[in-house]
Amino acid sequence: MRENIFDSLIETNSLFVDRQAFEHGFEPNELPHREKEIRSLGENLVEALRGHIPSNMLLYGVPGSGKTIVTKTVLKQLKSKGRANGTSVKAYTINCRTVDTKYRVIQGLANQLEVSGDPKIPFTGWPTDRVLEEYRRRMERRGGMHVIVLDEIDHLVSKVGDSIIYSLTNLNLDLDAARCCIIGISNDLNFTKMLTPQVASRLAQIDLVFHPYGANEINDILEERVKRGIREGALDNRVIGLCSALAAQEHGDARRALDLLRIAVKKAQQMGHEIVDNGHVRLAQSQLEHDQLTPVLRTLPLQQKILLFSICMNEDNGLRNISTGEIYRTYSEVCHRIMVEPLTPRRISSLLNELDGLGIIIARNVSKGRGGRSKQINSAIPESLDAMSEMRDSEPLIQEASKGKYRLQRPL
Ligand SMILES: Nc1ncnc2c1ncn2[C@@H]1O[C@H](COP(=O)(O)OP(=O)(O)OP(=O)(O)O)[C@@H](O)[C@H]1O
Ligand SMILES: [Mg+2]
Repeated sequence: MRENIFDSLIETNSLFVDRQAFEHGFEPNELPHREKEIRSLGENLVEALRGHIPSNMLLYGVPGSGKTIVTKTVLKQLKSKGRANGTSVKAYTINCRTVDTKYRVIQGLANQLEVSGDPKIPFTGWPTDRVLEEYRRRMERRGGMHVIVLDEIDHLVSKVGDSIIYSLTNLNLDLDAARCCIIGISNDLNFTKMLTPQVASRLAQIDLVFHPYGANEINDILEERVKRGIREGALDNRVIGLCSALAAQEHGDARRALDLLRIAVKKAQQMGHEIVDNGHVRLAQSQLEHDQLTPVLRTLPLQQKILLFSICMNEDNGLRNISTGEIYRTYSEVCHRIMVEPLTPRRISSLLNELDGLGIIIARNVSKGRGGRSKQINSAIPESLDAMSEMRDSEPLIQEASKGKYRLQRPL
């Protein structure tokens, strides 16, 4: 019989000893460099164990700075202490990236308190006030302290406004047997600017900022995971340092560092190497860039795609530091070819800024003398990614445009 393909795929000699240690949902025992934040949360939430209402809190910090994991860890301990003390503390989290309407958030909260015999709240159809009333009724029935965590709250507010937060921070006025406090978590540092002052002061009674991790801090976080998750001696001694440094450059994101390390180990394993070295980390880095950028490229609006297509064509022709004028010329030709109305140079200039903001191009302002200014454009797409084919595959008009011939600028 032929060899079973799974024999070679099962990791008999894996470089991982515990792969879970690198999964996103993993809850580490130790959270290095977050002692202060854990303490601040604890010092406020301990009020719940004393029968008082903790202040509402707003936690913010860049992505991957440990907001979610710190909150989760502290709430777990709060619940466990509540059980041990016989104090009723209920804590529940809604992720507002996935649940992002007022109705569904309140429904999600109410569902946490559902017991058999309760009316099922339909996915839509009830007036929102009725859902809120049902939630209030269930809170009252359960009694005690309710700690409500709204993670990624900025998504909810940017989509539906802050009236939901207003309603939730008002709940205590209508509760007798129960009490609640709200913890909002945001990675948008300007989040409070989205709130009316009235709501901002209710929600952010306590502000807690999670600073971005520095390279040394990420190093410590990785060391902990490596001890648990990776075979001893499997890492070249520069690997953790490189992952930490790369992630620190990327706004101090511990998630990025863990991803880099996990993918680097996987790459080494796939290549049949016994030791993970910096080369594997570089491969992991380019795969991550690739994975991040591909969906962005594929979903760009048509005009942005035409613009990027025009830039890539000039670059493929050997041109660098392309001026806005040169890009505009190609762009207009492309529009003509696929019969799309071209935008004005002014609009194109602002679309170039948007592409720059997405990290797809680098637009540098240069002075042209006599007060005139122009931009120099270079693509920032890693070489491992074929932007043209991503755009062609996702947009028939770009497919069509790529069949055309254009008067491209020659490199000097
Ligand atoms: N101090 C730490 N110790 C150990 N692991 C950490 C620490 N901080 C973050 N992590 C890990 O890094 C990853 C990202 O952390 P987390 O999800 O808490 O970030 P976040 O601040 O909530 O980011 P986002 O704003 O993107 O939601 C998780 O896998 C988490 O376990
Ligand atoms: Mg989070």
